[in-house]
Amino acid sequence: MTNGREQWSSKFGFILAAAGSAVGLGNIWKFPHMAGENGGGAFTLIYLICILVVGLPILLAEFTLGRRTQASPVGAFSALSDGSRWKWLGMLGVASAFVILSFYGVIGGWTIKYSLLALAGSFSDIASSAGGAQAEFDQFVANPVEPIFWHMIFMGLTVLIILKGVKGGIEKWSKALMPILLGILIVLVIRGVTLDGAMEGIRFLFSPKWGDLTTEGVVLALGHSFFTISLGMGTMITYGSYLRKDQDLLRAGLWVIFIDTAIALLAGVAIFTAVFALGQNPAGGPGLIFVVLPTIFPQMPGGAVFGFLFFALLFVAALTSAISILEVVIAYFIDEKQWSRTQATLAFGGIITMLGIFVSLSFGEYNVLKSFGEMNFFSLMDNMSSKYMLPIGGFLTAVFVLTRWGVPEFLKELQTGAAGMKIPLIPAIAVFGFAGLVVAYILLYEVFKVMFGAG
Ligand code: PHE
Repeated sequence: MTNGREQWSSKFGFILAAAGSAVGLGNIWKFPHMAGENGGGAFTLIYLICILVVGLPILLAEFTLGRRTQASPVGAFSALSDGSRWKWLGMLGVASAFVILSFYGVIGGWTIKYSLLALAGSFSDIASSAGGAQAEFDQFVANPVEPIFWHMIFMGLTVLIILKGVKGGIEKWSKALMPILLGILIVLVIRGVTLDGAMEGIRFLFSPKWGDLTTEGVVLALGHSFFTISLGMGTMITYGSYLRKDQDLLRAGLWVIFIDTAIALLAGVAIFTAVFALGQNPAGGPGLIFVVLPTIFPQMPGGAVFGFLFFALLFVAALTSAISILEVVIAYFIDEKQWSRTQATLAFGGIITMLGIFVSLSFGEYNVLKSFGEMNFFSLMDNMSSKYMLPIGGFLTAVFVLTRWGVPEFLKELQTGAAGMKIPLIPAIAVFGFAGLVVAYILLYEVFKVMFGAG
């Protein structure tokens, strides 16, 4: 189909771009600390099940919706439902993109700062400073100027890539950065597993301690499985809309999930082997990466180099995801409002960067949500997106396929480009029904907990 819409240049390019979107802070920053706090192996197992049972069907739904309609989410839902209210599901995706990118860009900025700190050999000073790495980190994020500067650099890079479009921007940079990411990760894993005492970290990550797993942990695992595969906000619809008909979508989906999961697990191995070998606490929470690791690197031979590589890895992963989040917003304005790519990218890249400034300020004395206890803009945005917006988006996407578009149409699109593949209808319906039920159950659990404080 050539309606002047931009297209990926190759099947491989699409897979790398989609994997680039999936692999991000979620894999390297969030997954290890969530597993660390929720029973290690038990959390890992639940997470893997959620990805296969819920993530895969919804990922395929998004790919097929995008490719069938050659439109970004609002246009896609609207085209397949005769312009009905379903287009609001697309709008929810655009809104989620604003929410997620506003905090994602801030952490993206932190990764630049910490790469440079590592490179300058400053981790050993940080580790031995008075308040230790925690105080250094708290001070950095609370500073009203410096993190905003790095955030703007990170967002500037995101905008530059998106300005170049699908082939010349997203695809080109994903192709260049993903192999670098894998290379760095392999070096770090080898470093980790060759440390004395590394086995304990591996055991922690893979052997389930069921006692430490709570219902809350299961809810987190599900929300995270959406976040980590970039589901529930139309990223994969948007990327699917730049596809030609000759791509085997089931295969592409399996690749994306495999790469995403493999990288999360490898990042977990790299981090926990080091954490256990050097005697630190795995349940370090969100600070695990920015607080615990800077004290660990100086203790290993070549620590400055490995420290730099680690934060560079985080930066690369964050960048290829950030572009996919911005692209959802940009594609909406190009498709539905006929803006030019340049106009849309500059305008909305700018607006989201501004939102990020508020998020960054919320770590310091300018936290306007201070009166709500522990809350700041960052945790608000993070919770709102991964606990509610993405699961709701994913759930409604499953409902859309089941009740409006129809599973037979979905299968027809899925089988296009996959020579000879024939998926039977009833099991496909069952898979979507089951995925929808699981998400609905978990969403209800969250809602009840917030309303009645149960759990
Ligand atoms: N999947 C990305 C990560 O794991 C985050 C993301 C969420 C990207 C939603 C796009 C859309 O970090």
